[in-house]
Amino acid sequence: MSRIFNIALLPGDGIGPEIVAEAVRVLDAVATRFGHKFHYTNGLVGAAAIDATGDPYPAQTDEICKAADAVLFGAIGDPRFDNDPTAKVRPEQGLLRMRKSLGLFANLRPVQLFDSLVDRSPLKAEIVRGVDFLCVRELTGGIYFGERGRHGTPGEGDETAFDTCTYSRSEVERIVRLGFEQATKRRRHLTVVDKANVLETSRLWRETAREIAKEFPDVTAEFMFVDNAAMQIVTHPGAFDVVVTENMFGDILTDEASVISGSLGMLPSASLGTQHALFEPIHGSYPQAAGRGIANPMATILSAAMMLEHLELTTEGSVVREAVARTLAAGVMTEDLTPKGEKSYSTSEVGKHICDEIYH
Ligand code: IPM
Ligand code: MN
Repeated sequence: MSRIFNIALLPGDGIGPEIVAEAVRVLDAVATRFGHKFHYTNGLVGAAAIDATGDPYPAQTDEICKAADAVLFGAIGDPRFDNDPTAKVRPEQGLLRMRKSLGLFANLRPVQLFDSLVDRSPLKAEIVRGVDFLCVRELTGGIYFGERGRHGTPGEGDETAFDTCTYSRSEVERIVRLGFEQATKRRRHLTVVDKANVLETSRLWRETAREIAKEFPDVTAEFMFVDNAAMQIVTHPGAFDVVVTENMFGDILTDEASVISGSLGMLPSASLGTQHALFEPIHGSYPQAAGRGIANPMATILSAAMMLEHLELTTEGSVVREAVARTLAAGVMTEDLTPKGEKSYSTSEVGKHICDEIYH
C-alpha cells in the first residue's frame, strides 16, 4: 500500500547538511521502490538558525516539527561558540529546546556491529562480535535541564558555578517503563545504570525501577553503577540487552559504546515522546569535516531506517538496513572505517551505493 508522509528535515550544522542529504536520497529510493511519497519541509536549527534569525530554535522550526509525521535531524554545534564563555545563545540550546518542546523524553540508541566491521573496532573481535544492545537514554530531564548559574565575584577565587540534576518520580517511571517494554521485545534483560551509592536522584531511580519491575515479571532487572557500566561496555558488551539511564550518563556511555560499532559515524537514534518522533545520529557536527565529503552518512541513514519502522514501514526499514550491510560488505565506506592505506569513499559515494542496493 502506498502512503504519503510529511517529514521535517533539520540538517543543522557542520556535516549535518551533507549527511541529511544522503539520508533523503535513501528515503527517495525507498519511495520509488515501494511507491510511497515523502514530502519534506526544511527547518533551521543550531548555529545555522542563529545566523539566520538570532535564535537556535525558531518558532517556525517548532511549527514545522509539530506538523510533521516525523523529524529527521542532522547535527548541531559550531566551534565559533564553543570557546566563547560570554556567548548568550548557543547552538546546543536549540537542540535541548527542541527535545523539550516536542516532549522527546526517550532516546533509543541501538548499539550493533555489522559483521563486516568486526575487525574495524579498536576492541578485540571476540569481545565485539555479535554485540546487540539498546541504550535507552532519558532525554528531557536531569542535569541538562536543571537550574544552573554562577555566584561570587567574576574572575576571583570565590567565583562558583553550579548545575543541578533533578528528576521527578513520574519522569523516571515513564522512561524506566519504556526500558522494560523494550526489554520484553528483546532478550528480557534490563540494566538500570545509576550512581545510587552517591546521588539522591539515582536512589530515586532505583526505588522507582524496583516498583516498575513488578509490572514486568518476565524481565530480569539488574542495577549497575555508571562507573562499572563504563568498564563493562568495553569488556563485556555482549552481556547487555537493554540499558536504561539518565540523560548525561546516557550521553557519555553511548559515545563510548560507539567504538564497538567501529565508528561514532555508525550509531543511529530515535527520540520519542507521546506526540512526536525525531531521528538523529548520535554523533555531533564534526566541524573539521564540514563540506569535505568525508563524513560517514550511515548513522543518519540508519536513523532514517528507524524512522521508517516508526512509521510502520517495517519492510522498508529492513531493506535500508540490509542495503547498508551490503554496502559495507562491498567495502564501500568512508575514511573513519577504512584502515590506513586502503581506499575510502566519499559521503555521497556511500549514499549512492546504498541507494543502488535498495533498487536491486
Ligand atoms: C547528543 C549530543 C547532544 C547531547 C549535544 C550536542 C547537546 O551530544 O545528542 O548526544 O549532549 O545530548
Ligand atoms: Mn552526545
